Amino acid sequence: MKGDGSDAEKKRAAESAATAVEDGMTVGLGTGSTTAHAIRLLGDRVEQGLDIRGIPTSFQARELAVEVGIPLTSLAESTLDVAIDGADQVAGSVLLKGGGAAHTREKIVDTAADRLLIVVDSSKVSERLDKTVPIEVLPAARTTVATRIEDIDGDPTLRAATRKDGPVVTDNGNFVLDCAFGTIDDPQNLSTVLSTVPGIVEHGLFVDCADELHIGEATGVRVEQF
Ligand code: 5RP
Repeated sequence: MKGDGSDAEKKRAAESAATAVEDGMTVGLGTGSTTAHAIRLLGDRVEQGLDIRGIPTSFQARELAVEVGIPLTSLAESTLDVAIDGADQVAGSVLLKGGGAAHTREKIVDTAADRLLIVVDSSKVSERLDKTVPIEVLPAARTTVATRIEDIDGDPTLRAATRKDGPVVTDNGNFVLDCAFGTIDDPQNLSTVLSTVPGIVEHGLFVDCADELHIGEATGVRVEQF
């Protein structure tokens, strides 16, 4: 049953995905309010004796994992069994991410995992993607990338910081252009085009990366497998 996109739905999705984590696993820890529930749940299980290592995708995920007692490792030291991450919009196995400006490290960690479990509330599910695509850019390339985005009929906006003058600065020291393309009919093609633009570090289109979608709904969880 479709729900209201509430925090309770986020928690249901996170609970569902967190049960896939078993003793001995290395787990990618995504960023955002939905994944935060999963990190807290895993922290509870670590306290009860679960033996796992986490690889965080952002400063926020690292801070929370440390707070709840999940031992950490890195991509240089470990391979990933599973990653749990959120999304801003999902259409089947295609995701839009980057609402928290963490999509570059998220894509690195998520695609390195044997299994990627995406956790979302029901408000994120859509027939087709039509939200803006977050694009992390090198600061020096923000104008050349913006021009290239306009050339392919996109409308870029430099993401502004809150409680700081000027733009958002990512964990990697870069800027984010939120780019409107209307309804995205061919996400694979857009992803490929964006990946060739000099100065783009990473974009928030995740095409066919997800293995499972855990959707928190009003009274339960729906799991889709790809
Ligand atoms: C961060 C992300 C997040 O996963 C995405 O924004 C979803 O966040 P939330 O669970 O808070 O809605 O991509 O860059």
